[in-house]
Amino acid sequence: MKRAFYKPRLVTGVIFSLLFFCPPAIYAFEDVPIIPRCKSLELHEGFYPLQQQIRISITGGTSSEDQLKANAERFAVFLRKGAGLKVAVGGEGKAGESEVKLRMAPDMFESKVAGAYRLSVDQEGIHIIGADAQGVFYGLQSLKQMLPAAIFHQDDAVHRNAFSDLRIGFVKIEDAPRFKWRGFMLDSCRHIQTIDKIKQYIDLMALYKMNVFHWHLTEDEAWRAEIKKYPKLTSIGGYPGDRSKEEEFNGYYTQEQMREIVAYAHERYIKVVPEFDIPGHVNALLMAYPEYGCNDGAPLKMGEPGMRSFSSAAGRRAICAGKHETTIPFIMEVFDELQTIFTDGLFHVGGDERPHGNWEKCTHCVALRDKLKLEDEHHLQNWFLNEVSERLRKRGIRSIAWAEHIQGGVPEGQIVQAWNKPSEALQGIRAGREVINSYNRKIYLDYPANNANAEELNKHNRRYRSRLVSAKSIYAFEPVPGSLTLEERARVIGVEAPVWTEDIRMDRLDRKVFPRLISVAEVAWTDEKRKNWESFQHRFAKHAQIIEALYIAYDRSDFIIEAK
Ligand code: ACM
Repeated sequence: MKRAFYKPRLVTGVIFSLLFFCPPAIYAFEDVPIIPRCKSLELHEGFYPLQQQIRISITGGTSSEDQLKANAERFAVFLRKGAGLKVAVGGEGKAGESEVKLRMAPDMFESKVAGAYRLSVDQEGIHIIGADAQGVFYGLQSLKQMLPAAIFHQDDAVHRNAFSDLRIGFVKIEDAPRFKWRGFMLDSCRHIQTIDKIKQYIDLMALYKMNVFHWHLTEDEAWRAEIKKYPKLTSIGGYPGDRSKEEEFNGYYTQEQMREIVAYAHERYIKVVPEFDIPGHVNALLMAYPEYGCNDGAPLKMGEPGMRSFSSAAGRRAICAGKHETTIPFIMEVFDELQTIFTDGLFHVGGDERPHGNWEKCTHCVALRDKLKLEDEHHLQNWFLNEVSERLRKRGIRSIAWAEHIQGGVPEGQIVQAWNKPSEALQGIRAGREVINSYNRKIYLDYPANNANAEELNKHNRRYRSRLVSAKSIYAFEPVPGSLTLEERARVIGVEAPVWTEDIRMDRLDRKVFPRLISVAEVAWTDEKRKNWESFQHRFAKHAQIIEALYIAYDRSDFIIEAK
């Protein structure tokens, strides 16, 4: 990953850290800058010094001990690299060492959502108790956030001397997530990102206790997932740009790379949900394998190399429902391979924006619609997605789809992702399905954050001028529609913020995603009654330092404008 473009403000980081670590008399309630805001937090008089020698102990003897150990080892690396401390994991404590004690105790917690924890700091040391290993991991994320921001820089040589007098105020935290789905979606098709960049975002998601990475891997513009049985998906579909140039339109992820991302995410308690978008958004697929397209009288144009020509210029197309005897087996063979890589039992099947006009004109689709006595193409889409979802369900996989095909009814067990209209969440709930709320005008990170930046209002974004999505407006987003019964409310399983990358190359991605993803994290984790924008702004001051130390070139204008 290229890092030269951005230099963290180390000096301000260190100064802020020193301020934060002044004696506890200066603490006010909100001075413990944890994001997302905890369920409850008490400050007590006194502080615990972190010696140069630290021991992380693990108690429990449960089957999750290996996971706690892995959590401990990762935290040890963070302290060693960032603060130059000597950290041992396990073993007997010795005089002069500071102690971080990790434990799992499921019986102590009532939260039904995974990830609850307690964190206390007293004269005996730092104690983290998790309802599960994920809870212990989240306790460690909160602890990391209580340390000086400059430690996140992870450059052992630079900071060693800055952290000779670390101490943490006595504190008692109880915490648990509001929602079980705390997601971020990255479109790797319109522009592709490096594996390092994706890992960096996964690290940030974990720091902010987010737990679902939705990876948008197939599109009109490009197909990014290597499928060995269908090599042209990537050899043709992965290269919409000029092959003679290094372009962020070109490339794909090998199966090995995708496995690497999944393993990296799993170590951080993040599920990875790949999206194979059907029946629309398939131009790249059809460029590679035109036989799966419709017989609608419109020849598929290959377009010119370098023109990103798989996109709308070639006319948007759909995979053929009428030829289901070949298209569905093909789709399932693609899933055969994806299933060996993405092991969380969740697959996104798209379902959004099927172009109108293909199925309506295709002799195969019209014949099938009539044979099945379906009212219209919406119902045909529902039938098609149902066939695929049912096959996935039989394999033990749950499907997720963008909500607009709701018009034809929602396949059994499918999770509905609301995105286009406020009514979609309600429709999904009323259809008895679980719902993820990604309402675009509230949470799409590709929409401009404010009017301050002329670059945001270029020709591509002009139509979104009135659709400003700022850190503050995201913060105010309430994902559960009003006037619902308790049972209905419980069907909203969370939120997810997508970033669509039509106009976003990697050099602009950070400033589109941050700081807004941090707002999303608090919406996803913190109980509605505990949310407070002023408190968030106050805590964010510390997090600006943290994300700078992590080389994230975030959008300052968004936050500063909203902070007024
Ligand atoms: C979408 O934004 N097309 C889901």
